[in-house]
Amino acid sequence: MYIYEEVKESIREELEEATDMEVTEKDIEKPPEPNMGDFSTSIAFKYAEKKGKSPVEAAEDIKEKMNLENIEKIQVKGPYINFYVKKDKYCSRVLKEAKKEQYGSSEQGKGKTIIVEYSSPNVAKPFHIGHLRSTVLGESLKNIYKYLGYKTVAINHLGDWGTQFGKIITAYEKWGEPEKLKEDPIEHLYELYVKFHEEAEKNQELEEEAREHFRNLEDGAEKEEELWEKFRKLSIEKFKETYQRLKVEFDSYKGEAYYVKSGKSHEIVKEAIDKNVAEKEPEGTIIVPLEEKGLTNLIIQKEDGATIYSTRDLAAAKERWEEYKFHENLYVVGSEQNLHFKQVFKTLELLGYKWNERCEHVSYGLVDLPKGSMSTRKGKIIKLEDVLNEAQKRSMKAIKEKNPELENKEEVADEVGKAALIFTNLNQRKNKNIKFKWNKALDFEGDTGPYLQYAHARATGIIKKSNEKTIEKNTSKLIKNNELNDETERLIKEISEFPKNIKKAKEQKETQQISKYLLELTHTFTKFYQKCPVKHAETEELKKIRLETTKAFKNTLKQGLKLLQITPLEEM
Ligand code: ARG
Repeated sequence: MYIYEEVKESIREELEEATDMEVTEKDIEKPPEPNMGDFSTSIAFKYAEKKGKSPVEAAEDIKEKMNLENIEKIQVKGPYINFYVKKDKYCSRVLKEAKKEQYGSSEQGKGKTIIVEYSSPNVAKPFHIGHLRSTVLGESLKNIYKYLGYKTVAINHLGDWGTQFGKIITAYEKWGEPEKLKEDPIEHLYELYVKFHEEAEKNQELEEEAREHFRNLEDGAEKEEELWEKFRKLSIEKFKETYQRLKVEFDSYKGEAYYVKSGKSHEIVKEAIDKNVAEKEPEGTIIVPLEEKGLTNLIIQKEDGATIYSTRDLAAAKERWEEYKFHENLYVVGSEQNLHFKQVFKTLELLGYKWNERCEHVSYGLVDLPKGSMSTRKGKIIKLEDVLNEAQKRSMKAIKEKNPELENKEEVADEVGKAALIFTNLNQRKNKNIKFKWNKALDFEGDTGPYLQYAHARATGIIKKSNEKTIEKNTSKLIKNNELNDETERLIKEISEFPKNIKKAKEQKETQQISKYLLELTHTFTKFYQKCPVKHAETEELKKIRLETTKAFKNTLKQGLKLLQITPLEEM
């Protein structure tokens, strides 16, 4: 256990003992002001009721009964009880903990498997800015779970099946260009898809042709199969380029098609009928009636016998359960699919699968890129690749202004650009929409990804400059002998709260819990380093303490940024 948790837990236990009531972690809070101690509780209100006393008296009562090893002072302020930690002991422990490479990690998830399904773009349709949010949110959640000791399985549930393939095959046969397909498959296939719709308005027969191609594909006809295979393969290669750039990794690319081809999609329809969960409508559609459950009915098979998107989700969930016996199965998908997932989870419940409770739709809001903020070739769809390039271009400009001497500018600019994009996506509650603004996202001084990277680089610079010769004395003794000033103390205490915020982020599935924490931590660091020179500290002992503090800050920020899928930069 980290010192922060240890102290909090000891307070909780003592409070339970003193009051003979149940006390939870939530009953112990962070005081609003630093001069009100390090922990605080308002449990006296409840205790007062029990004892028939006033809350102020109750607070005094509780204080009298408490005896805590790591606490220096207990103070009663009206009905509130404030606890002050033993500074030197506490702070030196924090500095030791925060030096460790995996600071904040734990083993709480040992033996539990978490499925995180995210990104899941569609073959032959562009990977757009909404997919970016899913991609970075999913990857970050995966990082967080991993850090807490869970086994994670990252799944990309590719949209690689559906009637659109009939359309694309039709269009490719008529207007396709193999060269263009090789060069930029996603772009070309999307072009064809758009063209198909334009032409189909004039020529009704095209739709019929497309239906036939799709039927053939479903029946496993060679020609269609071959084309589909090619489109899929080339698209995945292209997606992987983007993932590599973002350093995102999947364990599985099992897409929708797999569930059709393996027959699992039809099996689940049969199972639903056998279990009386689904029924056939007069015209032949098979549905799961959900109206009585307050939802709309879920179609799982069309009248022509083809299964659909939702069927494949049912089959996929079942297979995941059989394969992984997951502790949680998370779908990081936009809020426009809220109803879809409600229907799917409800159907799983009706099928008798208790593990439906372990499935969760991690729903996120829209991302709005301002119009005209970048040149897009198509005008309609903004592609992620273009956004990344634009981000790099804009960061490059800033870097050339601020640090023209910097080596490998290109690389740094790409990292800064990505940080701007990623941070904007993650520093927001997931159900909120995002209005993306370039200037705001790239502002080195505002609350942005680049700002955090910059602080990391600055800390790195300070450490490099002062590292050579510091005294060989143990930090704990030094802290005991030297009264810490407020800035140092506050920074160290803030560092101690990192593990708590990782856990909270996991519980709420909110990356904002970490991003906001890192911002606050960095603000505190800025105050620290304005007030406390490291290299030119007043004494050698203070220099050592500040250096250790800077190192602890740097590592905390580094681990935090990594959880958010942002590259900590040594220089920028
Ligand atoms: N391919 C879909 C889209 O781009 C998202 C898939 C979400 N995952 C799922 N299991 N249904 O809209």
